[in-house]
Amino acid sequence: MTQIRSFIILLAITFGLPWFALILMPHMSFKDLAATPYSEDELELADGSSYPPGGAGRVANGHAIYTAEGCAYCHTQMVRPSDQLGTDLWRDEWNGRGLDWEGDEGKPAPIRTLRPEDYLEETVAHLGIQRTGPDLSNFGWRNLSETQIHQSLYSPRSLNGRSNMPGYKNLYRVQRKGSGAGSKALPLEGEFAPKEGYEVVPTPRADALVSYLKSLRKDHLVPKSLSGKGTAATAAGDDAVPQS
Ligand code: HEC
Repeated sequence: MTQIRSFIILLAITFGLPWFALILMPHMSFKDLAATPYSEDELELADGSSYPPGGAGRVANGHAIYTAEGCAYCHTQMVRPSDQLGTDLWRDEWNGRGLDWEGDEGKPAPIRTLRPEDYLEETVAHLGIQRTGPDLSNFGWRNLSETQIHQSLYSPRSLNGRSNMPGYKNLYRVQRKGSGAGSKALPLEGEFAPKEGYEVVPTPRADALVSYLKSLRKDHLVPKSLSGKGTAATAAGDDAVPQS
């Protein structure tokens, strides 16, 4: 009898502890997160009226496709904090690449570590657990053309011969040349090109996914009230990479 009782108690502890630590505790600490408006003196710094700004329309559809296609199995969207031994921000400092991509005017991205609020507007938060491919938190900063992104989704090896990313051919359509939407045909060459007389064009799902990828910029200013610094809204937290 005592054996059965201790078995049940141990079983309850074995499942109860992880449930408490992995589900209940995070739920309690994050359930009250809400979008935070910028204070008046910050408004001119802010690009929206509250943080974080939400994505709508095609971007939201793209987010759903990213979820459905399982991109998060290989890509994180999480800049790891240096004070928890994450090397993301240090790495940028060392090699000037990593997450520190250059945007439109050749300026480096104002990369900061992410906060729980950064995921507020997302139906699924794609933190990811493994980086088989690069982190995509700030992919929008890479400023690639839509055609380039489409091509790397359709056949990654046509751009990077050693890529081990799968091609998402299900998001594209092979059609006879000149049968509409031809201006969007992907510039595929050699072994990657479709049969003579045919071309590959993106479906609306691929377009939505690309809009979503281009929108990925977790660089919104953090309101003063959250950054807890008593200074103006900052794009870069404590962990900021010194920008040259
Ligand atoms: C099996 C793992 C895997 C999956 C699943 C995967 N990727 Fe990738 N991805 C990679 C690897 C590895 C690279 C780096 C090599 C390359 O550039 O092709 C990469 C590169 C990329 C890049 C270019 C990033 C850069 O820094 O230039 C983008 C954008 C991207 N993936 C988007 C996606 C999207 C969107 C999906 C889902 C539809 C997806 N990936 C699914 C492994 C994966």
